[in-house]
Amino acid sequence: MEHILVTGGAGYIGSHTLVELIKSGYRVTVIDTLERSEIKIIEGVEKITNTKVDFHKINCLDYLALDSLFSKYKFNAIIHFAAYKSVNESVVKPIEYYKNNIESLLTLLEVMKKHQVNDLIFSSSCTVYGQPDSIPVDESAPFKRAESPYGASKQLCERILEDAATVEFRIISLRYFNPIGAHESALIGELPIGIPNNLVPYVTQTAAGLREKLTVFGNDYNTPDGSCVRDFIHVVDVANAHVRAIDYLSRHPKNGSFEAFNLGTGTGVSVLELVNKFIEVTGIQLPFTIGPRRPGDIEKVYADPKKIRDAFGWQTNYSLGESLLHAWNWEKKIRNK
Ligand code: UFG
Repeated sequence: MEHILVTGGAGYIGSHTLVELIKSGYRVTVIDTLERSEIKIIEGVEKITNTKVDFHKINCLDYLALDSLFSKYKFNAIIHFAAYKSVNESVVKPIEYYKNNIESLLTLLEVMKKHQVNDLIFSSSCTVYGQPDSIPVDESAPFKRAESPYGASKQLCERILEDAATVEFRIISLRYFNPIGAHESALIGELPIGIPNNLVPYVTQTAAGLREKLTVFGNDYNTPDGSCVRDFIHVVDVANAHVRAIDYLSRHPKNGSFEAFNLGTGTGVSVLELVNKFIEVTGIQLPFTIGPRRPGDIEKVYADPKKIRDAFGWQTNYSLGESLLHAWNWEKKIRNK
């Protein structure tokens, strides 16, 4: 049985990936600081899978703790989710973001090298492209100057990985577009801290009555309805791609490789389309207003997912409506509605 270390496994995408890994027969060990998640998410994973999760409260910046974990277990591969991910927060805390996101990766790579663990799946973001010159964007699009320290940290991490891979590592970087939704059991989902910045948590919190109304940031963009266009993808589809990535690495045993893949649906959906779909599938009259553009927002971006489909045999299983319904079911669950 292959043994996978999942860093940041109590987080949003990490926890959904644990479920898919366990369902696919992998043994998992999880490390997480729990500074931005809660142990109840791991308990949710245990309930869904009916499996005890081997959990350790370890920070990826802690070389000695990682070293001792790697001495205890012989991991086949690592999936590295642990990172800070708020674009806004990164602008006010750039040093914390660079330190946490870059140093943790370097520490992990050092320990992997020492223990001769070569396979790594890295959580990247479509933010590395900025506003691409043409859409759908494929993996060959150049990186534009990142809008935020968060985005820059993902670009830098990819550069580090590309260089590291010229030695013994085999590395896959998955560039996530906009993951949304929750597990259909409503036992795990996203736990936003404070007032959400992201669209779907803001929508579900508004529907739950925690927020007065949603503001749609801009309706004068050069898009069919004037609102921004994104590639929203169900988090379980994102999770599944990680299982496929592990399988892909084991089938392509070439050392010194770094490959980046877009992880999106390939369909652009506007903010207003998403809001209307939410109203349609939940039957809730969501109060919303049109506000000014949000600084730093990209007008439209969606993936060309051909590379990942061809290489992994991966495809999405969930529609936008299902993604929004699952997000709403999770919101109701955490609000005990
Ligand atoms: N939006 C609103 N109102 C809100 C929140 C968001 O209209 O209250 C709009 C935004 O203006 C944007 C769209 O909804 O047009 C999506 O916004 P999100 O904040 O949900 O997502 P982003 O596309 O801005 O950001 C996401 C990830 C980042 C990543 C980035 C890359 O959250 O981690 O994509 O483009 F870096």
